[in-house]
Amino acid sequence: MATSEFRTTNQVTEFPKKLFHCWHPVAYTSELPEGKPFGATLLDEPIVIWRSSNGKAYAMKDLCIHRGTALSLGWINSDNIVCPYHGWKYNNEGCCVHIPQKKNGPIPKKARVPSFPCIERYGLVWVSLGGEGVYPLPNVVELEDQSWKMVETGPFTWKCDASRQVENFTDFGHFPWVHPGLLGDRERPVVPEHDVTVDGHVLHYSIVRPEAPNSNDFPIFANEEVVKPERRSVYQLHLPFSIVLKLGWGGDEGMVYFFVSQPISHDQCRGYCIVARNYDLDEPETAIKEFETTIFMQDQVVVESQRPDQVPFNLSDELHLTFDAVAVNYRRTMESEELASKSH
Ligand code: FES
Ligand SMILES: [Fe+2]
Repeated sequence: MATSEFRTTNQVTEFPKKLFHCWHPVAYTSELPEGKPFGATLLDEPIVIWRSSNGKAYAMKDLCIHRGTALSLGWINSDNIVCPYHGWKYNNEGCCVHIPQKKNGPIPKKARVPSFPCIERYGLVWVSLGGEGVYPLPNVVELEDQSWKMVETGPFTWKCDASRQVENFTDFGHFPWVHPGLLGDRERPVVPEHDVTVDGHVLHYSIVRPEAPNSNDFPIFANEEVVKPERRSVYQLHLPFSIVLKLGWGGDEGMVYFFVSQPISHDQCRGYCIVARNYDLDEPETAIKEFETTIFMQDQVVVESQRPDQVPFNLSDELHLTFDAVAVNYRRTMESEELASKSH
């Protein structure tokens, strides 16, 4: 069987409706160009993000009603976004407010494009296509505490569904195999026991495991002085695609990972990984950025090879062992919360 035929089996054709009612990231705030619109895709919907003169970011369908041109190719004129083809101007509610070719008479009511709720938090731009998000954003106090330093890593664009990228981020069994010497040790492949509790749309679990000591290339963890480094990792997995991970080594030093994946399409996602810590505040950001780039590239090769592109939420479709408890609970809860894509 040709690879392309194999890839079409068990593929998703439609996103579940509820995903359109969740907040998803579409960019780091720092990615929005000054004074220009920014094009992104969310759940197969092209959208344009732009900032008006009051500093607020707005999200609209990236499609001019006149001839279907991408508004993200246009420009911002004070409080309006201007289409690059014939110069029609839209306000931040998506209403066309000026048609240069029209000499007189009112602007047709149909001259508008859909707009979507858009907020900024944690240095990310969030959009919900179906009105205000049904789940609140995870509350991560460290990311809004000035005594913690945040480093934005990625974004990591992968050819797979966001669910695969999320599961990879929280998969314990692969550390010694995919990241030997960086996150794991092949002499110690057994995953420590961990219980998963489910509270609504949030999974809670934690793990204590020995880890590979800091490598000379990436001395980023606070475990230098410890003879047998043990990392305590406390996780919250917020459905559908966000993970809050708090790391500690028994002292005051702490590290927080905030990972969230943008569902671009059934076979494409973009992961944002914010790393915050309350130590080594003067260290340059490059060590953390390069470390995460290395880790994510090691993962990407493996995850993009997984078939199907999206997690099969029916538990009988793959084989699960005890150490896969997080994945089992993730799949089950995605199903019960009606966030799971249906495969065919
Ligand atoms: S296509 Fe946008 S103004 Fe004509
Ligand atoms: Fe990994």
